[in-house]
Amino acid sequence: MIRLDVHPTPEGAAEAVARRVVATLAEARAAGAAAHVSLAGGTTPRRAYELLASMLPDAEAAHWWFGDERCVPPDDPDSNYRLVAESLLGPAGVPVRLVHRMRGEDPPRLAAAAYARELREVVPRGPAGLPVLDLALLGLGEDGHTASLFPHDDALEATELAVPVVASKPPPNRITLTLPVLRAARAVVVLATGAAKRDAVARVLAGPDPATPASLLADADVTLVADEAAASRAPL
Ligand code: 6PG
Repeated sequence: MIRLDVHPTPEGAAEAVARRVVATLAEARAAGAAAHVSLAGGTTPRRAYELLASMLPDAEAAHWWFGDERCVPPDDPDSNYRLVAESLLGPAGVPVRLVHRMRGEDPPRLAAAAYARELREVVPRGPAGLPVLDLALLGLGEDGHTASLFPHDDALEATELAVPVVASKPPPNRITLTLPVLRAARAVVVLATGAAKRDAVARVLAGPDPATPASLLADADVTLVADEAAASRAPL
């Protein structure tokens, strides 16, 4: 089920996402379990990460994973790891042992297989035998892609936990989590802001469609956090 959570501004949406991550960490701690959170790439979540860095209860509050990564070195301006390291992990002083980076500098197929192994080894599994993330934070492309799951791509049918893809959004070579592991998460938050995302937001809410990959998460507990501009074409 996908629930829309609208805020007047991008700042409000970023604050809502940061608060949701903090609440997720608190729930895991109350249950006496380590928290496992996968993070979105792109540009939209930077502000949410900056806010989150000052809101974390402590630097060891969670294991941090990635929803996708570009096949570039970790210090490359296009690296999602670099985005997260600059805005969240560095400022919050998160120890390296809690950061599970997709190795964008390695051959994509090897890096994807290694990431799937790491997920299976580190993240507790649910009844279906899949790793259960406490929260998967994702972005939304104008074409409805999320992570690096693009419209009508073969990756939408993948059963592995992580796969290499060649994307329509540059840079083309990427590694992405797949729908099985995203759907298995206890909760999913998709963050979308700006008028350019309004059609994608409306399509996500219109029902599952491989032309809009984020819509295929509908059978998970999904909160679509948007500002008013991105939600302006959402069904009332
Ligand atoms: C990536 C992202 C991708 C992103 C959307 C939105 O690596 O590009 O994971 O899924 O979240 O494309 O990107 P923006 O936030 O830059 O609009």
